[in-house]
Amino acid sequence: MRVQVAIIGAGPAGLILGQLLHKAGIDAIILELHTPDYVLGRIRAGVLEQVAVDLLDEAGVGARMHAEGLVHRGIDLLIENRRHRIDLHGLTGGKTVMIYGQTELTKDIMEARKAAGLKTVYEAKEVSIHDFDTTHPRVRYVKDGTTHEIECDFIAGCDGFHGVCRASVPRNAITNYERVYPFGWLGLLSDTPPASEELIYVKNERGFALCSMRSHTRSRYYLQVPLSERVEHWADDRFWEELRRRLDPQTAETLVTGPSIEKSIAPLRSFVAEPLRFGRLFLAGDAAHIVPPTGAKGLNLAASDVRYLARGLIDFYHGDANGIDSYSERCLKRIWKAERFSWWMTMLLHRFPDTHAFDQKALEAELDYVVHSLAARTTLAENYVGLAFVD
Ligand code: APR
Ligand code: PHB
Repeated sequence: MRVQVAIIGAGPAGLILGQLLHKAGIDAIILELHTPDYVLGRIRAGVLEQVAVDLLDEAGVGARMHAEGLVHRGIDLLIENRRHRIDLHGLTGGKTVMIYGQTELTKDIMEARKAAGLKTVYEAKEVSIHDFDTTHPRVRYVKDGTTHEIECDFIAGCDGFHGVCRASVPRNAITNYERVYPFGWLGLLSDTPPASEELIYVKNERGFALCSMRSHTRSRYYLQVPLSERVEHWADDRFWEELRRRLDPQTAETLVTGPSIEKSIAPLRSFVAEPLRFGRLFLAGDAAHIVPPTGAKGLNLAASDVRYLARGLIDFYHGDANGIDSYSERCLKRIWKAERFSWWMTMLLHRFPDTHAFDQKALEAELDYVVHSLAARTTLAENYVGLAFVD
């Protein structure tokens, strides 16, 4: 088989890219290791920047998001039992974020893909990529015991942090930057009304907590936990009790609890691989970088990578290679700003096991500065809603 672009991975990066290429008349196939149900079953983030919302509209898959998503104009920081609102809308000249679960977004794109009759191979095993240092790359995979080969012009590595694409690049051609944090997030999803109308990021001496949501009737909560914690040790009651202890008395009192639909622990990591292009192979999304979830940037960065990549590929087929030539450099500028912001939010709001007393005091002063300085709040808001594209 021959296609113009072989996309590896049907997460948000691969699916959005597939849609953008389809709109432009570029022939692509997506190879995904897992089943559609597995991909849909992963509970991930739920906050979309305006630029991600615009991109989904451009890809023609924004209708249900606009109908069912919640537009948020602010977030709360809860520090020492006091709520401080960050007026995202007011501080950024009218920008907002959209609350819409990644699961829903994935479902929308999968359905659009199906309706348009686009090629997706689920349960594609043993995917391997070849000759991407030439103009004739190839991708091989095994489906139902039979080996298949695809010839293509380009390979898009959208296969997440543990995928095969980044791992196929010669070691001496890639530089990894990494920071691992000494804690994880224990997440709980429940069909209960959210604790508040907007998200609450909680800095507490017992550890960070986050009150988030998927809709008016479905909530998502997180607790900072040591890496040694096991989810089996967190019965729902224990989770709710610990969450209450990290909230202010009023929020704790009105918190509606219920049985969990999902509960899991995720470690926090910052990671960037440079560059993002190796001949005819491009890395995008989690295959190239990871952010800790504190800034809600993971999905948004995946969207901004594939925006650059789709434009680059479209220009290439119109005779202009500038877009793909500058892909890595342009993406990395935006990636590092989101990495910085996510790292900063993480440092500011979490409790670190062995913080030096001086550093602790400096962090407390910084937090006080953030909530009381208009300039600092503006910076936070500008980053949270998403930085503008530099095209
Ligand atoms: N072959 C084919 N597919 C693969 C392979 C492989 N060897 N390895 C991984 N995959 C698939 C995974 O099963 C997954 O569906 O690639 C997909 C990668 O999806 P994500 O991990 O979601 O990564 P990405 O699309 O970059 O999305 C980034 O969304 O999922 C969140 O936390 C993530 O916020 C981040 C953003
Ligand atoms: C979520 O709703 O899952 C969520 C929201 C904001 C974050 C991280 C996760 O910063």
